[in-house]
Amino acid sequence: MLAKKHILLIIGGGIAAFKSLDLIRRLRESGASVTPVLTRAGEEFVTPLSVSALAGKRVFRDLFDLTDEAEMGHIELSRSADLIVVAPATADLMAKMAQGHADDLASTLLLATDTPVMAAPAMNVRMWDHPATQRNMATLKGDGIRLVGPNEGDMACGEHGPGRMAEPLEIVAAVQEALVDGPLTGKRILVTSGPTHEPIDPVRYIANRSSGSQGTAIASALRDLGAEVVFVTGPADVAPPEGVETMRIETAQQMLEAVQTALPVDAAIFAAAVADWRVAGASNSKMKKTKGGLPKLEFEENPDILATVSQMDEGRPSLVVGFAAETDDVVDNATSKRKRKGCDWIVANDVSHATGIMGGKENDITLITGSGTEDWPRMSKDDVARRLADRIAKSLT
Ligand code: C5P
Repeated sequence: MLAKKHILLIIGGGIAAFKSLDLIRRLRESGASVTPVLTRAGEEFVTPLSVSALAGKRVFRDLFDLTDEAEMGHIELSRSADLIVVAPATADLMAKMAQGHADDLASTLLLATDTPVMAAPAMNVRMWDHPATQRNMATLKGDGIRLVGPNEGDMACGEHGPGRMAEPLEIVAAVQEALVDGPLTGKRILVTSGPTHEPIDPVRYIANRSSGSQGTAIASALRDLGAEVVFVTGPADVAPPEGVETMRIETAQQMLEAVQTALPVDAAIFAAAVADWRVAGASNSKMKKTKGGLPKLEFEENPDILATVSQMDEGRPSLVVGFAAETDDVVDNATSKRKRKGCDWIVANDVSHATGIMGGKENDITLITGSGTEDWPRMSKDDVARRLADRIAKSLT
């Protein structure tokens, strides 16, 4: 369970703070040790005495506490845990986290930490639905913070809807999922996903039909096996997975820059459908329709990100996996693509319109490695992702 795991629990100022007392108990029952941090607003809802009695430890409250700083500085405190849990994560705490504020102990710890963070939001339904909170939530997810809840139901304020803090046992289950070691624990893996958009002018672009679902499923499956995932995504239809660091880009050139920033990694999975060409000299102002005249678009080649990383002389990931979306001679084309690009594996699939694969829920792939070709039966993209993640784990360990 959670034996030898150390949780830093930040209790924010909301009515749900009373559930955090039970959360401390449940975490300790699972074997974890809990160091509590109480915000000023949190103290209005639960007392430092009950928090520290349940945790069996002193509670940290002040940023500028001379005794605390002498015993354990706030930076050290922020790094000492296996996981930081913010429960309840109030609208205000979420806003501070999203903006990177550091004006009290809780926000400073959250900014200074290099350990994973999980937040259990709790607030009035209107506050939760407010665009500002939704924006902050999206920012936090993009920063790799895992969210648990909120749940829907009756609220202390008399309203009904999403905003109730997840129950203590649900939070404990999420903590276990985040902390239990998997075969990819300690491995950093890059996944590219989605289409790219190549501008013609400020309002028009060239794109493709990639939904990003296969890349997203692969990133989630790798995360579930314990990997630290960096997810570089174009403008996809599906939301990026939680608990991974997400870098959003639009063009192939931006994708290459993001990938280079993310290196070094142990493995790189290039599931993105990158545009092969971009419009040369894309216009900075909207192209006008002229009577009888048609615009002439000239193209230039985009960088081949997969080939660039596969052929790195220094710091090449141990495993580089490319995708081959083909409409004809799938296996032959993919086999020569593997050689040409220099990657280790190619995941090949037939994206002819009739297969329904591009943008669909299922995939029918052939895995081409140095030792041969494997046809996998048609299965859901989630199952393809899990099977591929298992193979990646076996190859890296
Ligand atoms: O050459 P093609 O586009 O068919 O190759 C597909 C594979 O190469 C995919 O893994 C894709 O992510 C990657 N790719 C790339 N950069 C490009 C084009 C494709 O990384 N410019």
